[in-house]
Amino acid sequence: MEELRGRVAVVTGGGGGIGRAMAVAFAKEGMNVVIGEIEMDMAAEAVAAVEAEGARAIAVENDVTDRASMQALADAAWDGFGGAHVLCNNAGVVTFRLAQDMTEADWDWVLGVDLYGVIHGVQAFLPRMVAQGEGGHIVNTASIAGLVPAATPGIVSYTTAKYGVVGLSEGLALDLAEHGIGVSVVCPGGVRSRIVEAGRNRPEEYGGPEPLNRVEGEGVPQTIIEPEDLAARVVRAVRGNELYVLSHPETQPAVEARFAAILGAYDAIPAG
Ligand SMILES: NC(=O)c1ccc[n+]([C@@H]2O[C@H](COP(=O)([O-])OP(=O)(O)OC[C@H]3O[C@@H](n4cnc5c(N)ncnc54)[C@H](O)[C@@H]3O)[C@@H](O)[C@H]2O)c1
Repeated sequence: MEELRGRVAVVTGGGGGIGRAMAVAFAKEGMNVVIGEIEMDMAAEAVAAVEAEGARAIAVENDVTDRASMQALADAAWDGFGGAHVLCNNAGVVTFRLAQDMTEADWDWVLGVDLYGVIHGVQAFLPRMVAQGEGGHIVNTASIAGLVPAATPGIVSYTTAKYGVVGLSEGLALDLAEHGIGVSVVCPGGVRSRIVEAGRNRPEEYGGPEPLNRVEGEGVPQTIIEPEDLAARVVRAVRGNELYVLSHPETQPAVEARFAAILGAYDAIPAG
């Protein structure tokens, strides 16, 4: 999608970290921005940052785990700006816990936000984007944890969700090509943000707020990059319709090792 000026971007989790940086980056390109957030004071600040770029922005209280809330976010885009062209399914949370220690609430929360949040975004926006007939782009924020299982210790639920986001994005790209709607799946390593404090907003129905709960161990080495640098990379990917958006070269050996292990398994198929 080459022409961004005057068009509309929607960003879930747009009040902080990567989401806020994407909102500002799209504003710099002349887009109007709808910011969905559960933390409304952060959303208000992000609106101010977008407006400082000369763009228009609205903040919408939104919970991506809730289908009706995602439909309301789409309503806000169409009511406020007449449509949506770039949808960034970005909101995400993490809890650090080994598989054997996971509770049902842990699984429900992480998959509810990180995987179902993206599915709900697709369900709420895609039929309207297709009917709008103006093309567009879907940006799904996965993670390097969507490509390798042990990016960081204790994130089996996050890995499960992010692999789902990568698979969903690859499938979407196939389904949407004929409608001029592109897809990018963003797979960064470490990015400066408050993601490790995600438990501060963990709803009561998913076990309630929890403090930072790291698991000891080695992950894939990752430098920490600035969200603004990742956001600039995303804008380029939207323009160029790039499916995979990678940002951390040092994660490449881990991805290669995983694919080599999968390809190597073909050698174990009995002959005949
Ligand atoms: N920071 C990293 O190192 C990193 C690396 C790879 C991928 N990611 C992914 O990037 C995305 C953005 O995370 P971030 O790092 O900017 O973290 P962040 O915590 O700064 O931002 C996430 C935002 O999502 C919001 N949010 C949480 N639950 C929500 C819900 N139910 N509905 C709507 N909004 C909700 C939060 O309030 C927050 O503003 C996530 O999908 C995350 O998994 C982050």
